[in-house]
Amino acid sequence: MPKIDDIEPLVRPNIQSLIPYRSARDDFDKGILLDANENSLGSPMRHKEQLHRYPSPVHNRLRETIASYRGVLKENIFTGVGSDEAIDLLIRIFCVPGEDSIMITPPTYGMYKVSAAINDVGIQEVQLDEDFQPDAQKILAARSAKTKLLFLCSPNNPTANDLNRIEILKLIELFPGIVVVDEAYIDFSRQESMAEVLPQYPNLVVLQTFSKAFGLAGIRLGIALANSPVIEYMLKIKAPYNLNRLTAQAALEAFEHKDLIRVNIEKIIEEREYLVEQLNQAPTVEKVYPSNANFILFRIRNAKEIYRRLADNGIIVRYRGDQTGCEDCLRVTVGMPDENVRFLKTLKEITL
Ligand SMILES: Cc1ncc(COP(=O)(O)O)c(C=O)c1O
Repeated sequence: MPKIDDIEPLVRPNIQSLIPYRSARDDFDKGILLDANENSLGSPMRHKEQLHRYPSPVHNRLRETIASYRGVLKENIFTGVGSDEAIDLLIRIFCVPGEDSIMITPPTYGMYKVSAAINDVGIQEVQLDEDFQPDAQKILAARSAKTKLLFLCSPNNPTANDLNRIEILKLIELFPGIVVVDEAYIDFSRQESMAEVLPQYPNLVVLQTFSKAFGLAGIRLGIALANSPVIEYMLKIKAPYNLNRLTAQAALEAFEHKDLIRVNIEKIIEEREYLVEQLNQAPTVEKVYPSNANFILFRIRNAKEIYRRLADNGIIVRYRGDQTGCEDCLRVTVGMPDENVRFLKTLKEITL
């Protein structure tokens, strides 16, 4: 049995009692629409349909499509402006500014910390171990009564590895707050999504995104999967029309190309394995960390200098050496096959 069987006591009192914004479109979206002060003459781009109308506040069709793809119900899906919106909303639902905190496990994705800081919410850190794995006992011992959210990222950014599923499950069971498992890169991993255990855990939130495996970073669409009480709160506090029409249309269109998405995932995994193999053979590379994502973390002497010299040659990677545990590390995204070859060639040339 999870420690948390009801999320209600974790929700900030002002959010519990909030009367959300409502528009007439929550009740009616057909007919002669004279309710929302839109421009009735239409948008200047006639070929783009309905852009003069506000989008749906709840995007039921999109949520149904995503839900059936992920094997959950529409009521388990929140659609947001990237998963970054979901991170921010979760902090705002559960953490009282100036009082509560989130817990993160560095090295990890930077936005959890930034979002918490923006909201004046504290940040507690428990470092991942030398294999970049979480230690559930350590995390549980470090939390305080004010720690409302725990963020775990699997596969983790920037380290690229899957977190140990047993430790994640232990934390979902025993952490007396909300556990957010960020699965931005799950489709590049062979590990199953934590979404499959959602029915057992009211305190679990899984984040996914269209920015990676779906190749749609430009449309800004992220999702949260959770039981309906959490989703209801996310819908309650989001901006009324957070997701725009073009984004919803593009995402629905993407589902007509599921085969291509799958093929591209396999290609990226193949290229990743090639890059790992080649980096392992590079004499100046000290360590290549195992990857279950679409990027690779590797350690190389003088990483900062190498990063700059790669940039001088038009190849932009990410310097991650400023994060504890990633000293002298660079993170490289899997590119197109010719880009990967150029990256490897340039790396070799500049480190000779
Ligand atoms: C772990 C992780 N979560 C979330 C995001 C943000 O995703 P989105 O583009 O959906 O905001 C990223 C982006 O790099 C990421 O690495």
